Amino acid sequence: MQKSRILITGGLGFIFSHVAEYFADKGHDVYILDNFSAGSHPELVNDLKATVYKLDCAADYAIGMIRKIAPDYIIHAAAISDVDESIQKPLKVLEKNNRATLNVFEAARSLPYLKKLLYVSTDEVYGECEHRKTEEEIIFPKNPYACSKAFGSLVRIAYDNTYESLKGKTVETRFCNVFGPRQDKRKILPAIKASLAGEYILPLHNEGTGFREYIYVKNIAPALELILEKGDRVYNVTLNDGYTVRELCAEAEKLTGKRVNTRRGNRPGMDMKYQMDNSRILSLGWKPLYTFEEGMREYLC
Ligand SMILES: NC(=O)c1ccc[n+]([C@@H]2O[C@H](COP(=O)([O-])OP(=O)(O)OC[C@H]3O[C@@H](n4cnc5c(N)ncnc54)[C@H](O)[C@@H]3O)[C@@H](O)[C@H]2O)c1
Repeated sequence: MQKSRILITGGLGFIFSHVAEYFADKGHDVYILDNFSAGSHPELVNDLKATVYKLDCAADYAIGMIRKIAPDYIIHAAAISDVDESIQKPLKVLEKNNRATLNVFEAARSLPYLKKLLYVSTDEVYGECEHRKTEEEIIFPKNPYACSKAFGSLVRIAYDNTYESLKGKTVETRFCNVFGPRQDKRKILPAIKASLAGEYILPLHNEGTGFREYIYVKNIAPALELILEKGDRVYNVTLNDGYTVRELCAEAEKLTGKRVNTRRGNRPGMDMKYQMDNSRILSLGWKPLYTFEEGMREYLC
């Protein structure tokens, strides 16, 4: 990819601080819009080779700011990303996430030099996955967070189809569970890590039978680079390393020789299984850098 202006919303968060570093290290001009809310790492502002604006993407003035930056590429990842928070405060999460997404698409449709807009979504948009879902299957989000992400999936289709300026320029990724350094403590693998260190007792929702696929964070940026270069649609991002929470704990115990302490927990309306078909991104030429086990070793050991 030739030297470009890349705007990343939510670029101070767990996943996208790694993505921002990756593109900055490759010599691109990276701009970050982030409101420094939950999951963010303000301590990185001076270390990241990026221009960081403290800004809420859901605010009206975000549209003008994005137009002023005039990026070649936009990666829209800013979102309240916590499912439990979305269950407690659905109005807040839906309003914020939906408005932020609308603002980004509104700004993007009048950007003369835009090459691509990548919308970051999640496996949760599929709802219960009784088989590996392909990108063609219907989306059926079943909690407020997933609903806010699915809203963005629909906005992407509508804007790409309606506005000449965006035709063929929008793409979407649906990640499985990402883990690695800088992840918020409320998420499963940081919670397991804290439990291994004896600092936390892990609540097991539905007796730990919920099944998710997991991917190491350092696999994400190269996948996004490939999609920005060659992609033209929606891409599931997973290596199909799927485990129940109980199995994940057992993997962590096997690798570290330490114990995960657990207690009973509850999450209303929880989907029991997310699993996705990854043939589309593999056929684009994706070659992941880390296996699940390599990622787990680097993160936990
Ligand atoms: N972590 C995962 O396993 C996972 C899986 C699938 C998809 N995703 C998606 O990837 C993206 C990043 O996830 P993450 O785990 O790194 O999240 P995170 O919570 O660590 O980071 C989110 C970042 O977005 C910022 N932010 C939130 N709302 C904002 C707003 N209105 N305006 C500006 N900044 C805002 C926060 O300050 C934070 O820096 C999200 O869109 C999430 O839905 C994450």
